[in-house]
Amino acid sequence: MISKADTHVHTYYSGTTNYKILRFPESVASPETQVDCARKHGMSVVCITDHSEIKGAFRAERYGRGLKDIDVVVGEEVMTSDGEIIGLWLNEFIRPNMTAEETIDEIRSQGGIAIAPHPFGFYVRCVGHKVTELDLDGIETINGGHVDEWTNNMAKGCFRSNPGRWAEIGASDAHSTYTMGYTWTEFSGEGEDDLRKAILSKSTVACGRPAPVFTQSQWSLQVVLDGMRMIVDRWRGKLDPNDDSPLVQKTLNLPPTKQLAALIGGAIYCTPPIPFIGAWAATTWIDRQVKRMKADMGKSYGYKV
Ligand SMILES: [Fe+2]
Repeated sequence: MISKADTHVHTYYSGTTNYKILRFPESVASPETQVDCARKHGMSVVCITDHSEIKGAFRAERYGRGLKDIDVVVGEEVMTSDGEIIGLWLNEFIRPNMTAEETIDEIRSQGGIAIAPHPFGFYVRCVGHKVTELDLDGIETINGGHVDEWTNNMAKGCFRSNPGRWAEIGASDAHSTYTMGYTWTEFSGEGEDDLRKAILSKSTVACGRPAPVFTQSQWSLQVVLDGMRMIVDRWRGKLDPNDDSPLVQKTLNLPPTKQLAALIGGAIYCTPPIPFIGAWAATTWIDRQVKRMKADMGKSYGYKV
């Protein structure tokens, strides 16, 4: 039997991202929500891989113990000094900012598996061409969060140029429920043990395609609207101080001026046609970067790429 796995999924334990003076949560989805979403999309295995954080993955794994139709694997997308590396089947947190080699050693010492996420992504920190120097088990050749025609094509080209070296991985990199289900890894068997065997025997197949741009817009709107709802809930006294959600804790500690600024900024961001202009501006910027990189590559080779 052939089964599906999503080896790269985020929750609201993934922290925040900064854009100039603005700061957004990476995700507003709970670990349980992401596990249920993976089940809805027919995944036999889901790996929770928050940014340099493992608490959400352990919470998801505990939730998964009560479910018969899915296995939950504890993972982490670790920021290294050389770019991001994913560790799967981990027992404990791996600290960020070590070198890629040190991080992979730490993953292995825990009995884990090391994967390069989106190795040629150009707007997130990735290992790039160093991927061929590292002792990895797998590389993502289809990353669902990268709609540009550079990242996944470069990874596929690198994978094909090194036959038999790595397991081929397709993963959603979903930060929301909207962007899951478009990309996955197929493997023989069922459940986490068979997935692990398939990665180690390099028999996996990357499937699907990146999530469409409109789903990325849905994710950003969800982040903004949920952030606003939590601020209003705080004012109404409906946020539980004992809730271990990092978003709840951040909202409870947000100074009043920042709460007001977030509400005003959020309302502006959600007003049409601003979300559409935002999506258009982001995709235009990405397309321009890809064109520039292709032109640079063409110049170095002496022909048009
Ligand atoms: Fe990621």
